[in-house]
Amino acid sequence: MRDGPILFFDSGIGGLSVVKEARVLLPEHGHIYVADDAAFPYGAWEEEALKRRLVALFGRLIERFRPAISVIACNTASTLAIGALREAYPGELFVGTVPAIKPAAERTRSGLVSVLATPGTVRRQYTRDLISQYAAQCHVRLVGSENLARLAEQYMREGFVDEEAVRAEIAPCFVERDGRRTDIVVLACTHYPFLVNRMRKTAPWPVDWIDTSEAIARRALTLARALPQPSRGQGADVALFTSGAPPANLRRLVSGFGFSVLEEG
Ligand code: DGL
Repeated sequence: MRDGPILFFDSGIGGLSVVKEARVLLPEHGHIYVADDAAFPYGAWEEEALKRRLVALFGRLIERFRPAISVIACNTASTLAIGALREAYPGELFVGTVPAIKPAAERTRSGLVSVLATPGTVRRQYTRDLISQYAAQCHVRLVGSENLARLAEQYMREGFVDEEAVRAEIAPCFVERDGRRTDIVVLACTHYPFLVNRMRKTAPWPVDWIDTSEAIARRALTLARALPQPSRGQGADVALFTSGAPPANLRRLVSGFGFSVLEEG
């Protein structure tokens, strides 16, 4: 019987951008937040090693929490391992998070679209396939940012971010070509919505920033509606950090989102 909690997974706090939406849509479910902070950031990981880590880690998470649905609230993990996870755990329900290239291609007027993501997501064959499948008629610039996920973590934990650093990271997204300009930037990392106001402020011109958090939460809602009503109700929301020792500001942050931190060890 599938009445377990909904599990949200990311390398860090980025998945909280999806949780924020999901709490509104799925209030009757228990929620578990798992941050693989021991391995953050995922952007720089070698693909096979990260895939092995994710499959092994999910084996333990599924056994421990018996989630009704697992939301991989991380583009870097989903574009690499969603297929391997479904294959390894065929009885489980997974919701993935992948770059919103299709909606961007449908909405752009100028035909110039940028995808802002971790270096890992930019390298993925999955991402390249989305572009050739849905955006062949557009000029898509892939921008792999080395630092934005870390800057978003810092902003969320400490309330401060260096705006000049944000400006430098997003600058390559802005392209001018034959009198046309980029009009859409896809936020293809779940950390980035937390910085979107700073991005707006430091962008050279206004663009539409596509954030998929709500769409991911809606996908989880659709799957949840097909399941039996949960029996455990709210209130059992816990967060697990794979480091086992999250710093105080991280604990404060997740408790602000309604999670109590599971003490490991
Ligand atoms: N939040 C993650 C994503 O959506 C990645 C952050 C990282 O580990 O670099 O891609």
